[in-house]
Amino acid sequence: MTRTPVNVTVTGAAGQIGYALLFRIASGQLLGPDTPVRLRLLEITPALKAAEGTAMELDDCAFPLLAGIDISDDPRVAFDGANVALLVGARPRTKGMERGDLLEANGGIFKPQGEAINAVAADDIRVLVVGNPANTNALIAQRHAPDVPAARFTAMTRLDQNRAYSQLAKKLDVTVNDVKRLAIWGNHSATQYPDLFHAEVNGKNAAETVNDQKWIEADFIPTVAKRGAAIIEARGASSAASAANAAIDHVHDWVNGTAEGDFVSAGVVSDGSYGVPAGLISSFPVTSTGGDYEIVQGLAIDDFSRARIDASVAELAEERDAVQGLGLI
Ligand code: NAD
Ligand code: LMR
Repeated sequence: MTRTPVNVTVTGAAGQIGYALLFRIASGQLLGPDTPVRLRLLEITPALKAAEGTAMELDDCAFPLLAGIDISDDPRVAFDGANVALLVGARPRTKGMERGDLLEANGGIFKPQGEAINAVAADDIRVLVVGNPANTNALIAQRHAPDVPAARFTAMTRLDQNRAYSQLAKKLDVTVNDVKRLAIWGNHSATQYPDLFHAEVNGKNAAETVNDQKWIEADFIPTVAKRGAAIIEARGASSAASAANAAIDHVHDWVNGTAEGDFVSAGVVSDGSYGVPAGLISSFPVTSTGGDYEIVQGLAIDDFSRARIDASVAELAEERDAVQGLGLI
């Protein structure tokens, strides 16, 4: 193998998403079949032993692309030289909670991690925050990494997008391969807005093809937005394999580029596009070429979409104010 390994740091490595994620990264699904990776696992001290167990299993897979595994409970060690960081480690919600209820419990994790990334990560660091509430945790980390370009901090809404693809494909009795340009706007929360009005099914407008506004409002949007809670209700634990899968999709497309003519969803720092206040980390339709996610410009937003986007963005502003009140930003 001639290429220098890419350092991929994963926090919460001993958790359930970590277990579904690490083997896929090590097998080459995150960065591609020609890119060796070195895994840097960050855990809290009591979970180090479990992380070591996972590392033993990774060794036992003899993945040709896996150049090594380091484990630490110190963010300054785990993020040292990191090129990609997946911030998964955080408490999941349980039945009856909204993701925003986790702000106080989880927000504190992301300040020291942002500081460590600022201090020791590689110059090309790209960060995906998965731990909830993902958008606002990403904002906390980003604000504590002033030397890293803000656009390198992103939050995961790709799982919501993938959920929306499946719901739409089922409704129209097509496959997910027939769907394009179906993006999530706003927060990774129950207020998120999965947008069928710019989506396409076999080249035709998705909302027009569905031709059922009642289904869009009363079925599609709430099903996608509340899917996380439905999984917790059914499984007794929050989504794990589907979350890991979405994290793979997010980073893969960020690094390798999105398909020509298509867009995907990611929480990125707003530049004021579409009236989303600059600085908030909100989900937008984005494309990636050359390793940067960019917000798709020029989409016409009708009154229905405007109201939905505004409601979710208002919640993001409330979360930002709450973490400001907690002294986290
Ligand atoms: P889990 O409880 O199984 O694992 C979390 C792990 O994080 C644990 O091993 C814990 O020890 C570790 N951890 C806690 N604090 C840490 C710290 N400061 N540094 C490093 N590691 C730390 O939880 P999970 O099911 O893997 O979920 C992880 C997070 O991802 C939760 O917040 C969950 O809500 C969120 N999530 C987000 C999405 C999304 O779409 N954005 C989807 C699913 C889950
Ligand atoms: C999800 O969307 O499945 C995760 O964010 C977990 C949750 O709390 O819903």
